[in-house]
Parts: sequence; C-alpha cells; structure tokens
Amino acid sequence: MSFSIIGTGSALPKTIQTNSDLTAFLDTSHDWILSRTGIEARHICIEESILDIAFTASINALENADINPKHLDLIICPTLGGDTITPSLACLVQEKLGATCPAFDINAACSGFVYGLDVADAYLSRGKPMTILIIAVDAMSKLVDWTDRSTAVLFADGAGAAVVTNGDDLKSIYLSAVGNQHALDIPWAKGNHPGLSEKELPIPYLIMDGPEVYRFAITAICDDLRRVTRDAGIALEDLDLIIPHQANQRIIEGAAKRLKLPMKKFVLRVKNQGNTSAASIPLVLDDLNRHGQLKPGMLIALTAFGGGLTTGACVLTWSK
Ligand code: UT7
Repeated sequence: MSFSIIGTGSALPKTIQTNSDLTAFLDTSHDWILSRTGIEARHICIEESILDIAFTASINALENADINPKHLDLIICPTLGGDTITPSLACLVQEKLGATCPAFDINAACSGFVYGLDVADAYLSRGKPMTILIIAVDAMSKLVDWTDRSTAVLFADGAGAAVVTNGDDLKSIYLSAVGNQHALDIPWAKGNHPGLSEKELPIPYLIMDGPEVYRFAITAICDDLRRVTRDAGIALEDLDLIIPHQANQRIIEGAAKRLKLPMKKFVLRVKNQGNTSAASIPLVLDDLNRHGQLKPGMLIALTAFGGGLTTGACVLTWSK
C-alpha cells in the first residue's frame, strides 16, 4: 500500500528575528551564525499561539487539496508539544477546523513529519479509503534557553502540513531511533510534590551537544538516503530533488559531498527559516508546491534527523 499527497500548506509567525537582532542580548555575531549554519533570520511566535500557526497551515493544506475538514478521517500532529500537554495539539486543530475525526500528536522531534507519513501509510494500508491531515508544528522559541548562544541562534518556529490519501506516491520509507538523552535533551518540569527537592527539578530548556548531533546528522542523511533509494529500486542519481531537514547548511553540504551528489539536488531554506524542527520539511514541500517547482513524475527524497535521536527518510513520486 502507499499514499498520495494531495495538498500542502504552511504558516510562519509574523515576527522575524535576524542574526543582528540576537546580538542585542547574546554574545554572538551575524558572521558566526551565517558561516557556521547558513542562517540569517528566523520566525518566532510572539503574537501567535502554536495553535494559530498549526491551524493556518492546516487550512492552507485543506484548501490546496480541496478537502472539507468534515471529510477528514484522521489528524496526526508531529510536534514536541503544543500550547497544552492535553488537549493534544491535534485535538485543538480538529476542534478549530470543525473536523470530527480522531486526532493525536506524535513526538519524533525533527523527524516527526516523516514519522507522520509512515503512520499515515500504516492506516492507509488497511485498505479503507481515508483522507489524513498531517500537521507538523514546533515552536522551538519556547523550548530554547535564550541565554545560551550555542542553541538559541539555531532554532525557530513554524508549521507545515500535508493532506494524504490512498494512492501510490510513496516508493519507500525508513525510520530509525537510537535512544540518546545526552545529545539533545529538553527536560520536563517534574511537578511540585513536596517530597521533591529543588535540585531534582530539571532546567526546562533545550541542551544539545552540537558537534555530536552534527556528526550523527551527516551519517544519518547518507545512510538513510542510500537505503531508501535502494529500497525504491532507484539510484541516488535518479532523485530529482532531496528535501533534507533544515538544521544547518553545512550538514547538508557535508552529506552532499559524502554522497557525491550536486548541491543543486538539495533544497535549502535554512537561511530565512532556521531550524523549525518537525515543520522544516513540510514547510519546504509547501513552498516548492506553491511555486510550481514540483512536476508530476518527479522523484523526491525527504530525509530528517533529530532529537531522540531519530531519523526518517522516504522516496516519493510527485503526482499532484
Ligand atoms: O534538528 C537537529 C538539531 N540540531 C542540529 O542540527 C545541530 C547540529 N550541530 C550544529 O549545527 C553545529 O554543531 C553548531 C552550529 C551547533 C555549532 O557549530 P560548531 O562548528 O560545531 O561549533 P562548536 O560547538 O564546536 O563551537 C565552536 C566555538 C566555541 O568556542 P570555543 O570553545 O572554540 O572558543 C563556541 O563557544 O563557537 C562558539 N560558539 C559561538 N560563538 C558565537 C557557539 N555558539 C556560538 C554563537 N556565536 N552563537
């Protein structure tokens, strides 16, 4: 079984924060951030809630797919978390859309969109006709420590959505997880039980071993792309486009070099987007779709890596 993507959507918050803006409160520079990451600016949720951007991206995708929300059979929301622990973000999107289908969040960090596609594929494999909304959303600005220059400059907020239904666009998909708390950790508040001492309470912000994640990412992109192209019965060179998780331009360039593929096959949007976690790949997909850059029959690979540590990659034919 497989699926087809029949619509895409995205939303970025209004507030744009440039590298220069960050120098007002962090010991950093535009040149350091640009040369180490390729990032110049990012969008941050100040006026918007996480639900606001999730809803806008969902509406855009449903309009693009020409689907009435009432006809959705499932909403899957890959996210590190919405505005509330419960209701899930997927349930809040469902309510705001006026949909009546089941809805749930999944957490696979930056690999979330590819994990979401795999879950959708599993549902569609039952053979029943279904229309599924995958809405990948993260507001990393609420999870990073804005006094930590080694992480705050990298991350950003956004939402990217896809509507999928029974079809045959998916050629291969592969997910992986290698549990590792040290490389990328966002501790949770542990409550205020009087039996807990102050020192047991974790700092609730993102902590990352950047160089470790960097090395993991390049290896993951190369291994996963080799695997999903082999599983799809094609050569790496047959891919028309590769949409990698937008974390760092140098990671993408490093993978391209190791795979001996030209950079023009890799889509880069990190410059004005930063690392939007689960939203990064569907944000790019929607941008390409809306600008007419995806042609029927194109072979596209998605490749993601992130906290967990998780990875996910797939090969798709574009048919919309
Ligand atoms: O979605 C997945 C999530 N994570 C990632 O994709 C992150 C993967 N890792 C990376 O992208 C890179 O490792 C970073 C961009 C995070 C860091 O780049 P790096 O080339 O690995 O730098 P580094 O961590 O080795 O730090 C080099 C220097 C250090 O100074 P010293 O010790 O050499 O004096 C840092 O303190 O750069 C310093 N530094 C900064 N300087 C100015 C770290 N952050 C900054 C900053 N501005 N923002």
